[in-house]
Amino acid sequence: MGNLSFVLPALGFLLLCCAVSAKQPSTNVKYKDPKQPLRTRVKDLMSRMTLEEKIGQMVQIDLSVAKPEVMTKYLIGSVLSGGGSVPAQKASPETWVNAVNDIQKAALSTRLGIPMIYGIDAVHGHNNVYNATIFPHNVGLGVTRDPKLVRRIGEATALEVRATGIQYAFAPCIAVCRDPRWGRCYESYSEDHRIVQQMTEIITGLQGDLPAKQKGIPFVDGKRKVAACAKHFVGDGGTVRGINENNTVIDKKGLFNIHMAAYHDAVDKGVATVMISYSSLNGVKMHANKKLVTGFLKNKLKFKGFVISDWQGIDKITYPPHSNYSYSVFASVTAGIDMIMVPYNYTEFIDEITSQVKRKIIPMRRINDAVERILRVKFTMGLFEHPMGDHSLANHLGSKEHRELAREAVRKSLVLLKNGENADSPILPLPKKAKKLLVAGTHADNLGNQCGGWTITWQGLNTTDLTIGTTILTAVKNTVDPTTQVVHIENPDREFVESNGFDYAIVVVGEPPYAEGNGDSTNLTIPEPGPSTITNVCGSVKCVVVIVSGRPVITQPYISGIDALVAAWLPGTEGQGVADVLFGDYGFTGKLARTWFKTVDQLPMNFGDPNYDPLFPFGFGLTTEGKRQYMSK
Ligand code: BGC
Ligand code: BGC
Repeated sequence: MGNLSFVLPALGFLLLCCAVSAKQPSTNVKYKDPKQPLRTRVKDLMSRMTLEEKIGQMVQIDLSVAKPEVMTKYLIGSVLSGGGSVPAQKASPETWVNAVNDIQKAALSTRLGIPMIYGIDAVHGHNNVYNATIFPHNVGLGVTRDPKLVRRIGEATALEVRATGIQYAFAPCIAVCRDPRWGRCYESYSEDHRIVQQMTEIITGLQGDLPAKQKGIPFVDGKRKVAACAKHFVGDGGTVRGINENNTVIDKKGLFNIHMAAYHDAVDKGVATVMISYSSLNGVKMHANKKLVTGFLKNKLKFKGFVISDWQGIDKITYPPHSNYSYSVFASVTAGIDMIMVPYNYTEFIDEITSQVKRKIIPMRRINDAVERILRVKFTMGLFEHPMGDHSLANHLGSKEHRELAREAVRKSLVLLKNGENADSPILPLPKKAKKLLVAGTHADNLGNQCGGWTITWQGLNTTDLTIGTTILTAVKNTVDPTTQVVHIENPDREFVESNGFDYAIVVVGEPPYAEGNGDSTNLTIPEPGPSTITNVCGSVKCVVVIVSGRPVITQPYISGIDALVAAWLPGTEGQGVADVLFGDYGFTGKLARTWFKTVDQLPMNFGDPNYDPLFPFGFGLTTEGKRQYMSK
């Protein structure tokens, strides 16, 4: 019995080896040889691929359907985690790496052993992952005007993404949000394309330094870096009234000056991929815009990486979505989209595209172009040599060093909008030593609110236990003198505030978390009880109001009753950065990267427009002295 139980598996193993070696080309083939030039490897591999294998490379499916048997049967080239798509709730890096590696093993077991590439929205740190460092959303980073800082954030994010076995981030969003009514305005660095252009430096952080002479060629520097994705091409931030996925009406000059500008920088920096926008441009769906995707991005800008669709983006070419899928497949692929984020109905997509290629409706050279680009990125980043996730990077996830960096970013992203009635009577910085201080507001002790959308889930959560971090309340308690009594009440009434003898109050209010279209707003108000908290507290005691929001919001009605006003945007997990500046350890330095309007009927209103009459103009930001200096940038 003992012998047999040894012999049988051994026999099975032998048979398996024979089967595998019969199926797989020998290892001295050119595409497997890292010493061969990139071009040779791509060409060699392409020459061995069947149509089925080529089409598989063009398909991206969601983790929830990426079972090993699906990977092998359909020869799938890419997998993603959509917002909140995780292997397990609060999954550890180990669980993540194992989940990604299991999918990878399946991909590698196919005839040619082409590794899959795994993508995720790491848009303010590795935001789907529990215990990751959550950085401020882009709207706050634009305020810093600090490309080197943003580059370091890219480096940290790349490491955290790799710590979970993932090699590809759907970031940065280089939208130029021209109307804050847009629910994605916080994903945009600025209304000014020049700031967005500067911030493309995050690509270098994510992917690594582009070697000289590589300008424009996709480049990802090994196992600690990730492929980046400039999105959403193009004009996503310019839609009418800021309606998500809507139509951008603009002339050529406006398009190229404002919305296209940062794509030049992204391509120059070797960005590996570009994601297409759901929106339309002058009535043409970007997912079907051959002129711009192929004509401009690929032919004119000479972008050599791959173009990816958005999530069910091709389905949305028609209205209602998915109502003429044959057309969607035809229009998107012939427009020049290389990889389709399907992400669920992969058999339907594969059947349709295969049939159109066989009937010569989609030309074979279009498929070859797509696959060549996808393989080029996979080879460049060393995916064939290092396909598996590395457990040894786990300690980078949410590391002290990364949290310190996020805290620095928070400090630099704050904008001081008001500080006393005039320069002679500043309220800030606040004294650390006081008898009694009040902290109030819906956003004072709520990590989920502080992080916003795209945090743990797609829409974000308004809870505190969603991940690990420091709320602004905790940060205040950490910072004040031990003798100072900190009283926290979310929404105190006026009588309570008046009768308690507070030295001063900090009120933290703002927007609830949201993502994409769910964040579209026509009124841009802070929801109740935010406004009542402001009036109850600020009417009775000296107060600082900190607004946590994805964009400028209506503040004009309260401003005269507020002693000091700070825009904190969506700071992320490191709320300590807010207290560092409120209490004067560091100075306020941030300058508005967006116009702060008075009323919604002024919108859209951007810096440089005629009749520009904001509450606070683009570039505005008061300063204070800080006790500490930054060591280096
Ligand atoms: C968003 C993209 C995102 C993708 C994958 C889409 O809905 O528009 O920004 O990368 O989903 O989650
Ligand atoms: C996914 C997101 C995606 C969105 C688009 C959600 O279900 O989780 O990643 O961006 O759908 O509609």
